[in-house]
Amino acid sequence: MGSGKSTVTVHLAAAAEQAGDGPVVISDTDPQGTAADWFNQRKKAGINTPLYSPSPCPTWAKKIQALSDAGAACLFIDTAPSIGAVNADLFALADLILIPLNPTLRISGRWSKVCR
Ligand SMILES: Nc1ncnc2c1ncn2[C@@H]1O[C@H](COP(=O)(O)OP(=O)(O)OP(=O)(O)O)[C@@H](O)[C@H]1O
Ligand SMILES: [Mg+2]
Repeated sequence: MGSGKSTVTVHLAAAAEQAGDGPVVISDTDPQGTAADWFNQRKKAGINTPLYSPSPCPTWAKKIQALSDAGAACLFIDTAPSIGAVNADLFALADLILIPLNPTLRISGRWSKVCR
C-alpha cells in the first residue's frame, strides 16, 4: 500500500490554489497516473484548477521554465515509488521535497539511499 504521495500532492496543490498561491500546476511522473486521474475526474465535474501538465519533453528544467514563463506560480509533481534517474533530476530542481513514509522496518535501509 502507498504511503500517501499522490494524496498529499493533489491536496496540497488544491489547498495552495484555494489560498491564492496559484496558478498551481500538477504533474505526474508515475506511470500509474494517480494525479492525472484525479485531475481528469475533477475536470469531468467542471473543476479546472489546479491545472495539469504532462511530464516534460525534453527536460524538467525546460518544462519548469516554460510553465513559469506562462504564469504558473507553483508546480506539484507526484512521483513513482522509486529512486531512479527521473526522481534524482526532480530532487535537484525542487524547492521542497516531501517524502511520506510508511513506518516499517523495510524503509530504514532505503532511506540512506534517498539521502545520498
Ligand atoms: N492521511 C491519510 N489518511 C488515511 N488514508 C490515507 C491518507 N493519505 C492517503 N491515504 C490512503 O492511502 C492509500 C494510498 O495513498 P496514495 O495513493 O496517495 O499513496 P501513494 O504513495 O501515492 O501510492 P503509490 O506508491 O501506489 O503511488 C489511498 O487509499 C489513500 O486514500
Ligand atoms: Mg501515487
